[in-house]
Amino acid sequence: METIEHDIVIVGGGAAGLRAAIAAAEVSPQLSIALVSKVYPMRSHTVSAEGGAGAAVGGDDSLDLHAFDTIRGSDYLADQDAVEVFVAESPGEIVQLEHWGCPWSREPDGTIAVRAFGGMSVNRTVFAADKTGFHLLHTLFQTSLKYERIVRHDEFFVTSLLVEDGRCAGVAAIDLLDSEVRCITAKAVILCTGGCGRIFSFTTNAAINTGDGMALAYRAGVPLEDMEFVQYHPTGLPGTGILMTEASRGEGGYLVNNEGRRFLEDYIPSKMELGPRDILSRAIIQEIEKGHAFQGPYGEYVHLDVRHLGERTIDTKLPFVRELVRDFVGIDPVHEPIPVRPVVHYMMGGVDTDLVGRTRLPGLYAAGEAACVSINGANRLGSNSLSECLVFGARVGRKAAEDALDAQPVPGNPVARLAESEQERLVGSYLEKDGGRERIAAIRRDLQAALEKGAGVFRTEESLRDAVMAVRALRERYRAISLDDRGRAFNTELVAALELDNMLDVAETIVTSGLVRRESRGSHTRRDHAVREDDRFLKHSLAFATTDGPRIEYSDVTITRWPPAERKY
Ligand code: FUM
Repeated sequence: METIEHDIVIVGGGAAGLRAAIAAAEVSPQLSIALVSKVYPMRSHTVSAEGGAGAAVGGDDSLDLHAFDTIRGSDYLADQDAVEVFVAESPGEIVQLEHWGCPWSREPDGTIAVRAFGGMSVNRTVFAADKTGFHLLHTLFQTSLKYERIVRHDEFFVTSLLVEDGRCAGVAAIDLLDSEVRCITAKAVILCTGGCGRIFSFTTNAAINTGDGMALAYRAGVPLEDMEFVQYHPTGLPGTGILMTEASRGEGGYLVNNEGRRFLEDYIPSKMELGPRDILSRAIIQEIEKGHAFQGPYGEYVHLDVRHLGERTIDTKLPFVRELVRDFVGIDPVHEPIPVRPVVHYMMGGVDTDLVGRTRLPGLYAAGEAACVSINGANRLGSNSLSECLVFGARVGRKAAEDALDAQPVPGNPVARLAESEQERLVGSYLEKDGGRERIAAIRRDLQAALEKGAGVFRTEESLRDAVMAVRALRERYRAISLDDRGRAFNTELVAALELDNMLDVAETIVTSGLVRRESRGSHTRRDHAVREDDRFLKHSLAFATTDGPRIEYSDVTITRWPPAERKY
């Protein structure tokens, strides 16, 4: 088997992964840094981020205000030391991106423009029209090309972490070109694989967002933190789930029910359309339940109305919204309101890390949406995610580089046999396995339906218990899958099978953590436990893998300067 040796392996080529690679490359020219991605980096999900990146870059903003908004938005579950680091380092990252060529939108006086976003006290979201992710990813990708020591392995799918003597020493990855496993060794492995929205049937997430890094870490014994907190974005297009950016509301768009009324005056009058996502998503579902929604071919929806902004503003600030609505709904938002409904968008939870991205498995690190550091707690504020990828991507890249430089060389290749057994497993369990009667697509569809039904915007003991049972039953069915495609070149069915394996593990942590958190906090809204209960649940959940499914433990939330209080707007 071919072994590829590097000092650092970064899994995932989106914003966090690329930022980590650049940071590591800047630490030392001696380091060899691998960027391993199942897709070409410019196809990473970061590319579809729209509205912007949150950072206190000036004006009437301050670091403390950004920290307070983030902590209040998190329903006091964010670790405040992590938030303080985050807000302090975000502005520098925005300026760094500017220097690398990111075309931030401007105020007339030439300064970087900021726009309003939900749950923020002041305008704080830096943006590049409504294609921020596209421009940010391009900037990072082109910057990474400056460094010869960043070596890309595009279209490699990591199937397991190679752990020897209690230390992560590399990854086993299939080269999709020939479906052969490569043993990639490293002194530090960083997971930047993004989220897992595809576990749900209705999501803004790309098809690649299947929780791969979360599942890899979980199986290697690292807990997944706060997995019950799933963010529904209030405004997705019915049917496709395509994101209608919060910037539409930041620029002044309205949410309107079937009575033609801005119904948010009944729910969050002080903030209206600029309320945080958990509150707005609940409000829309309640309007639907009250019969105040429109009925369409893809279910019920409310209107996002931007007509009053005028064509000029829409074309300069929200051109992508116009393009998407024209292409996918067949209407022009300059002249007609946009149908929208809440849609799964983001995971607040992820791989448990410290402030520099280290996990409790030596040699393993994580950053970005795959990780939980945790700055988002029970509900992330819109636009904090891109800044999080930049700040914690840079931090983890630097830390992994320092650790890799300090690491003692290991003689021989102790993990080669682990990679060889991984090859045997993939051949025996998938490529040459016969007789299975289950189809991958059927299990995936049933998994997505079970999560949507059991762990949606509103949850109950019964809905979550049903979802736990459904996921377990699907895990049994998964044992009986077999592939139709036995070819070795770009076997996308094999990849889909491995992704589904990851989705099942991660889904089980979501529904199990949700079942035992018998309170309502942020995005986790229990109809049967409607109140936040700090006495019992001002805690992070930690899901550990066992042969009987996840075991849930709890850890303390770090409070520095903002004592938990009632979350009021
Ligand atoms: O609505 C948006 O543009 C999404 C931004 C985010 O999730 O941070």
